[in-house]
Amino acid sequence: MKTTNKVVRLGIIGVGSMGIHHARMVAAGKIPGCQLSALADSDPTRLHEFPTLPHFNDSQSLIHSGQIDALLIATPHYSHTSIGISALQAGLHVLVEKPLSVHKADCERLIAAHTNKKQIFAAMFNQRSDPAYQKIRHLVQSGQLGRIQRIHWTVTDWFRTQAYYDSGGWRATWAGEGGGVLLNQCVHNLDLFQWIFGLPESVRALCRIGHHHNIEVEDEVTALFSFAQGATAVLATSTGEAPGVNRLEIAGDLGRLCLEDNRLTLIRNEIPSSLHSRQSREAYETPPTWKIDIPLPGHRGEQHAAILKNFCNAILHREPLLSPAAEGIHSVELINAMLLSSFQDQTIHLPLSSSRYERFLKKLIASSKKKKTIRRYQGRAGNYLVQC
Ligand SMILES: NC(=O)c1ccc[n+]([C@@H]2O[C@H](COP(=O)([O-])OP(=O)(O)OC[C@H]3O[C@@H](n4cnc5c(N)ncnc54)[C@H](O)[C@@H]3O)[C@@H](O)[C@H]2O)c1
Repeated sequence: MKTTNKVVRLGIIGVGSMGIHHARMVAAGKIPGCQLSALADSDPTRLHEFPTLPHFNDSQSLIHSGQIDALLIATPHYSHTSIGISALQAGLHVLVEKPLSVHKADCERLIAAHTNKKQIFAAMFNQRSDPAYQKIRHLVQSGQLGRIQRIHWTVTDWFRTQAYYDSGGWRATWAGEGGGVLLNQCVHNLDLFQWIFGLPESVRALCRIGHHHNIEVEDEVTALFSFAQGATAVLATSTGEAPGVNRLEIAGDLGRLCLEDNRLTLIRNEIPSSLHSRQSREAYETPPTWKIDIPLPGHRGEQHAAILKNFCNAILHREPLLSPAAEGIHSVELINAMLLSSFQDQTIHLPLSSSRYERFLKKLIASSKKKKTIRRYQGRAGNYLVQC
């Protein structure tokens, strides 16, 4: 395993819209203990911004260059597995962009390659740094809402234009990306979902393919999850709705918690609703409540910088990981189950058979069409988009 004393020598593979954002952040000194040491991209034009850094055109040359202790993988989704396995086998610490892989079987292969637990292996689930989600997780898991009855998450603020989908040959194709809004955008929310509530026991979904855009993957989804303890959850997401909304509502025996526009509100029952239902002599009386606007420190946390700092601190100082890579399999399993449910018009029970989904995905890949139009475009922050 390669680790220097005081500094993590970081290499980045994939210097596109996300990779360049990470590179600039590290080069600007925003990640203490982290030194941008080498870059790799199969497209040499992506490497011009840092001409003095060692740079490579393929992953193997970077991984075996001896120039880096840790690798950040920011390439398209399918390559996360093969590059991640090579890097782990070469003894590097690895931080992989979301999603961990495209499908559950690849997640299993990648996680299995992490045999030396002294190597730090993390995933870029930057929304875990958001104080609002950390607070919600604490409230739910410490039982302060009582038994959870219902979760409703409408997360339709992932609007994307056709120009976005036309900006890369891999985007929004089964062969190149492996999915649409679920795997690319909503994977953040599904990671938080399983991080807060755990995995449901069954999934039923309607995934609309190319509903708002000229693409071959899903861009609008409504799903129903059912939990072993009796709770249900509804998730709605879209890249075609504007203005979108991000509203998470959780109803429990002890009250209702709602997050919207970075405002977290708890309406707390003074007695549990189930107890009140049994004891009250009135037909329509609801339990008395009190309401609190829960203060949140800062705005949405440090996001990508938080994960990178934590990754480096884990290497240098054994800080516990906020987003261990092994947990990235859960959002992928949910996404795979939702797509399978929709295509096969059936409820999928978890755990999902990883080989069943891999066989199913291979058929979609076989039907995938090569894109005719690929246009780079000038976004707000250069010729790329940054989302978080
Ligand atoms: N965490 C976030 O907020 C966030 C935001 C955007 C993208 N991402 C993730 O980052 C990853 C990259 O997405 P992007 O939007 O930057 O894509 P992109 O197409 O803009 O960039 C990908 C880059 O990888 C290079 N590349 C492709 N295959 C390669 C290979 N085998 N070896 C070396 N280089 C290779 C391409 O030339 C390109 O420069 C994806 O996993 C995506 O989901 C995460």
